[in-house]
Amino acid sequence: MVDQKTWESTVLQEFELPNGVKASNRIMRAATWMGQAEEDGTCSNTIFETYSKIRAGIVVTGFQYVMEEGQSVRRMISNSKPTDVEGLKRLAGIIHSSGGLAAAQLVHCGCKSLPKYSGNDIFGPSEMEVSGLKGEGVQVKAMTVDHVEEVTQAYANAAKRAESAGFDVIELHGAHHYGLWQFFDPSYNHRPENDPYTGTSIEGRSKAMVDAVRAIKNTVDIPIQVKVDSSSDTVKPEEVGELTKKLAEAGAYCVIFSGPNPTQKPKDLEDAYFLGDAMVIRSTVHDSGLLFGLVGGIRSPKTVIKLLTGNGDLAAAFDVIQLSRPIISEPALLRRWTEEAKVGTQEIARCISCNRCFAAGLKGGVRCVQFESD
Ligand SMILES: Cc1cc2nc3c(=O)[nH]c(=O)nc-3n(C[C@H](O)[C@H](O)[C@H](O)COP(=O)(O)O)c2cc1C
Repeated sequence: MVDQKTWESTVLQEFELPNGVKASNRIMRAATWMGQAEEDGTCSNTIFETYSKIRAGIVVTGFQYVMEEGQSVRRMISNSKPTDVEGLKRLAGIIHSSGGLAAAQLVHCGCKSLPKYSGNDIFGPSEMEVSGLKGEGVQVKAMTVDHVEEVTQAYANAAKRAESAGFDVIELHGAHHYGLWQFFDPSYNHRPENDPYTGTSIEGRSKAMVDAVRAIKNTVDIPIQVKVDSSSDTVKPEEVGELTKKLAEAGAYCVIFSGPNPTQKPKDLEDAYFLGDAMVIRSTVHDSGLLFGLVGGIRSPKTVIKLLTGNGDLAAAFDVIQLSRPIISEPALLRRWTEEAKVGTQEIARCISCNRCFAAGLKGGVRCVQFESD
């Protein structure tokens, strides 16, 4: 149980972006694909209704594809063409009306894209076979340097559309084995030493993500945050620390740490299951001026306070935390916790991390199946 004073002075603290714009608290709704866009990626009325119920300081949208070929699942939001701006504008407006700042998460899914969207060819950092949705072998073609540059430009174009639609923040998806992470992870990136995006050096592995930040920075005036994995089987947290420094130099204001298996069950592990790796990264990144966020398995108000204060340990203190599944189950969870803090009865998020919300997304839209009758 967290007392009202601690809750208000920690969680309900304003979160100031580098351009002076302020979010009213330090809880972000993590990017969450809802499977609710129209088949062509247009924002639907269901999407607007979903987002109107969410209460958070910053609401990050589900991943928006920046090029048709970069979609990995149906009914993602499209931010790949000028006509998408209209729906994005309405979406940003609805998030604002609900009291949050609006962040657009941008992605090209690289070799996790689906052939039906990419004209049958799947592109990633290197020629290789990866396993598809049903475990089948999928042949990946290596992107040429021109193709990588085209994707970088697509990120900038999408950011421009998001800015003109009224979004306050861009979140670049550099995690979860999607396109930008694939370039950073040597298990995907086998490009040779003489290639600018080579998998043989941290410089080359970081280039696609760093270039995307730079291209966006050169195109829009709104702040850029990046979601990265804190490690993987083939990437050490210290290497992510090197990447993080480069993202700061390129102009990102905040890095959010996730992991390669993002939707685990905190009950089987512990709350905030990427904290250990995130702390290793934090201890390698000094004086970068960056803000830091954490996502993954955060379920109790006590954990929220622990992460926002660090209990005196700087490497364990985050500027902001992100929640996904708890907010699928309780869109106004923040409001509940705030009301409960006043009367001293704060209960943990009701989400049991069963992940049936995700499966529901493939069959008509993400929703909390566990508490369906609510
Ligand atoms: C239904 C569903 C959709 C998701 N979609 C995205 C997404 O679009 N982009 C992203 O970066 N992460 C996505 N995630 C991962 C979440 O943002 C988050 O990293 C993960 O669920 C762990 O946080 P949690 O324990 O608070 O749910 C999704 C997760 C779920 C359950």
